[in-house]
Amino acid sequence: MTLMIGMVSQKGGVGKSTLARLIAREYAQAGWRVKIADLDISQGTSTDWKQRREQNSLEPEVAVEPFRTVAQARKVAELYDMMIYDGPPHSMSGTLEISRSSALTILPTGLALDDLRPTIMLAHELVDNGIPADRILFAMCRVGDRENEIEEARTYISRAGYACAAGSLPEKTGYRRASDEGKALSEVTYPSLKGRAEELAQSIIDTISHQIQEEAV
Ligand SMILES: Nc1ncnc2c1ncn2[C@@H]1O[C@H](COP(=O)(O)OP(=O)(O)OP(=O)(O)O)[C@@H](O)[C@H]1O
Ligand SMILES: [Mg+2]
Repeated sequence: MTLMIGMVSQKGGVGKSTLARLIAREYAQAGWRVKIADLDISQGTSTDWKQRREQNSLEPEVAVEPFRTVAQARKVAELYDMMIYDGPPHSMSGTLEISRSSALTILPTGLALDDLRPTIMLAHELVDNGIPADRILFAMCRVGDRENEIEEARTYISRAGYACAAGSLPEKTGYRRASDEGKALSEVTYPSLKGRAEELAQSIIDTISHQIQEEAV
């Protein structure tokens, strides 16, 4: 069976594509057949990234394909162990479609209330539409370097009733450069940035593993 994971947000530019690539790379490295379904076809961000990855001959190979809808992506899903939906921003119907298909829906968010509030509203909307809250995971992306700000955001998310992945991705030029070269954030050369990306990725992977066990029961 194909494990499906969704990356969604209402706001643009929060880190959906970046996280999709990070998680895809970690599973591909572990030998899984992974495909990123790039559902943001007007931008094709992950599709372009895949081309840069190929031009730079980076391993492991991470498959990316643009799809207009989740239904189209699902048609080829059985060829893969994992399908990661890289969602478009500003599309509630598209977001729901992704979430309904996914064992886990990941909501990247920044730390400002301007970012947190709409992300929590989106999570509530998903729950109102029948998505169980324990299939929703927040992930802090593009954060600053103030530890207390990160902790406050974590408390805010938890009070709203949602889980948040451990770790966070700081906003760094090193990450941007890595993406420009077709790398996932865990492939960055700076050890401290690599460590931060790996910590967040591992926490998401642990949640996914837990989800698989729950569903097997
Ligand atoms: N931690 C980070 N440090 C530096 N730049 C980052 C970081 N995370 C993401 N970016 C950059 O921010 C921009 C937006 O990130 P990304 O494309 O992952 O967001 P998105 O949610 O997929 O956006 P969209 O809604 O447009 O699809 C990209 O240019 C990306 O390279
Ligand atoms: Mg994107």
